[in-house]
Amino acid sequence: MNKYRRAFYKSPFLIEFQDRPYYAYPMYQAATQALALGYKAISVIEFGVAGGNGMVCLEKHARILSKLLRIEFQLYGFDTGTGLPPPEGYRDVEHNWKQGLFRMDVEKLKSRLTISQLVLGDVADTLKDFYMAYKPAPVGAVIFDVDLYSSTRAALKIFDTGAGNLIPRVRCYFDDIIGSEISLTNEYMGEKLAVDEYNRTHAQRKITPVYHLQARSYRKKWHLKSFVHHAYDHPLYSRFIARDNDAVAGQLRA
Ligand SMILES: C[S@@+](CC[C@H](N)C(=O)[O-])C[C@H]1O[C@@H](n2cnc3c(N)ncnc32)[C@H](O)[C@@H]1O
Repeated sequence: MNKYRRAFYKSPFLIEFQDRPYYAYPMYQAATQALALGYKAISVIEFGVAGGNGMVCLEKHARILSKLLRIEFQLYGFDTGTGLPPPEGYRDVEHNWKQGLFRMDVEKLKSRLTISQLVLGDVADTLKDFYMAYKPAPVGAVIFDVDLYSSTRAALKIFDTGAGNLIPRVRCYFDDIIGSEISLTNEYMGEKLAVDEYNRTHAQRKITPVYHLQARSYRKKWHLKSFVHHAYDHPLYSRFIARDNDAVAGQLRA
């Protein structure tokens, strides 16, 4: 077990991560990867903020993890502020989502947040100059929760940037990729379609499931929503970060 994992499991704060473990997991994994590669700070982004309970949770996790691991987290939340934009056809799962759902009370939310920055407007517009305007630390983890195919496709442009703005393997969480009994979303609509299109159109960048989570003896729904953005063109992608013993132990366990 490496020192980060040992610190995490010994943490008196572990109980805290029971609030949205699917947010704590990508933050923790991104942070330990970043530290192993020499980064001092990473950005964590939530696309789709609504009332802000997710952002508040990210802040809570960031406070704990930054003390535990000694890394800085910068948090950004993207949202229209006015709820869902109009769905643009069946790919946006119109039978499940409609315009105006999840409207934000901007002032109320701002009063609940301490370190996060809200980026308000349609993500198709606000992402265009995000890196120039905010100069964020390299992106380490991204929560995708904008519900619609069209909005997810726009949000995935966060990855259309130079390797300097990303850690090699950015941890992702797609809240609506499995769907529900009503949405019945799949590879022809919603988040999954946006991810598949991204993979088809990017030769050196791919978004994949975290397969080893799916092989665990205990299953959680969020394991199926946890993904990784691989930037195979990243100069640090292939730097060896396992300890020799970890790699061998991994092989023996497999
Ligand atoms: C389900 S809510 C997010 C809930 C939040 N993640 C949480 O856990 O509390 C979806 C949000 O995505 C936002 N959204 C959808 N499409 C968007 C777009 N194109 N640009 C910006 N925000 C968008 C909506 O305004 C809405 O607030």
